[in-house]
Amino acid sequence: MKFGVICVSDRCSKGLCEDKSGPLISEILARLGETVFYETVPDEKVLISLSLIKAADKMDCDVIFTTGGTGLAPRDVTPEATKAVIEKEVPGISEAIRQKSLEITPKAMLSRATGGIRGKTLIINLPGSPKAVRESLEIILPVLPHAFETLSGEAVSCGGNYGKGGD
Ligand code: MTE
Repeated sequence: MKFGVICVSDRCSKGLCEDKSGPLISEILARLGETVFYETVPDEKVLISLSLIKAADKMDCDVIFTTGGTGLAPRDVTPEATKAVIEKEVPGISEAIRQKSLEITPKAMLSRATGGIRGKTLIINLPGSPKAVRESLEIILPVLPHAFETLSGEAVSCGGNYGKGGD
């Protein structure tokens, strides 16, 4: 799999702090594929959308992860920038992250993260902190290979247990 990682942070984009979450995403994903696109952008809707378009359309990333800008702060616009560029919503991924994360911290309900598909690229918003990134990826990582298979049209079946109570 080819991954794109976009750190959304005013402070990191100005060089005022180091992005720890982006490299952590690449490190955790290394066993599933390679990060071929990495960018740090400020909390500006248009710049985030442009970065997502570049990673999806030019770099052909299979999955793009954003980190940060999903909360309630006045400048948090990552979900809006994502919705502006996706063609189909994939709500279940962020729903699963929120649901499972609530078992760890009630603050998980403050993430407005979303996700969806642009062409053959899956875009997933993650919260900004390294702790939240690690926890969120642990939840969704087991499903990523099958998401990739179905998205690329390679999946022939989803386990063959339809109607038998299997997955
Ligand atoms: N999800 C997990 N798994 N772990 C966390 O620590 N932090 C929450 C939430 N989601 C958190 C989490 C907090 S404190 C906030 S404010 C929101 O994500 C939004 O984070 P963001 O603005 O950095 O995207």
